[in-house]
Amino acid sequence: MHATLLPREFSGGRLRRLRPTDRVAFQAYRSIPELGCYQGWSPMSEAEALDFLAEMNQAPLFAPGQWVQLGIAEPESDSLVGDIGLYLSSDGNTGEVGFTLQPSAQGHGIAGRAVREALQLLFSATKASCVLGITDERNLPSIRLLERLGFQYLENRRVVFRGEPCSEKVYALSRNPA
Ligand SMILES: CC(C)(COP(=O)(O)OP(=O)(O)OC[C@H]1O[C@@H](n2cnc3c(N)ncnc32)[C@H](O)[C@@H]1OP(=O)(O)O)[C@@H](O)C(=O)NCCC(=O)NCCS
Repeated sequence: MHATLLPREFSGGRLRRLRPTDRVAFQAYRSIPELGCYQGWSPMSEAEALDFLAEMNQAPLFAPGQWVQLGIAEPESDSLVGDIGLYLSSDGNTGEVGFTLQPSAQGHGIAGRAVREALQLLFSATKASCVLGITDERNLPSIRLLERLGFQYLENRRVVFRGEPCSEKVYALSRNPA
């Protein structure tokens, strides 16, 4: 199911399935502390990364109540430069997106265009009426990306993240913006 939905090409990149051969690139950027400081994930061992990449290679797209992680790749080399997580709520009504791009690829709009592709994919393959983007209020590049894509600010939430109290900004993008 959904086998024909990926890969998707966009200017400067490709949205595609993750695969075990991405391991070196995946582990390299996921080991950079500044890249993961606002993220829910932690660095993985080699075996964990291989398992995760193999699982995501085959994971169903948009199974209710589950995340699926897709890769962002350079168009010529097809090497992995980042990833995007997509979640569909259990009732199928709401999506959520998370994104990471390795530092050397940042600052060119690649993450923004990749997220736009991922959102088009989610809206075309599900009945979700909106997608949430939730980010630490200190994470200005992430906030800029969401706002550039038309996400609307909903609210701030106080949370405890890695033992520290902090504040998250909740944004939403509607399928049919007013
Ligand atoms: C969030 C993150 C993906 C943003 O990466 P990014 O490359 O800045 O994002 P974009 O693809 O939207 O690129 C926008 C930048 O490219 C610049 N740019 C250059 N050419 C551009 C183009 N053609 N189109 C759009 N932007 C362009 C923009 O000016 C902008 O820079 P600025 O923010 O300094 O003004 C990145 O900082 C990251 O991986 N952070 C760590 C992970 C994380 O915290 N993720 C969020 C948790 S959900």
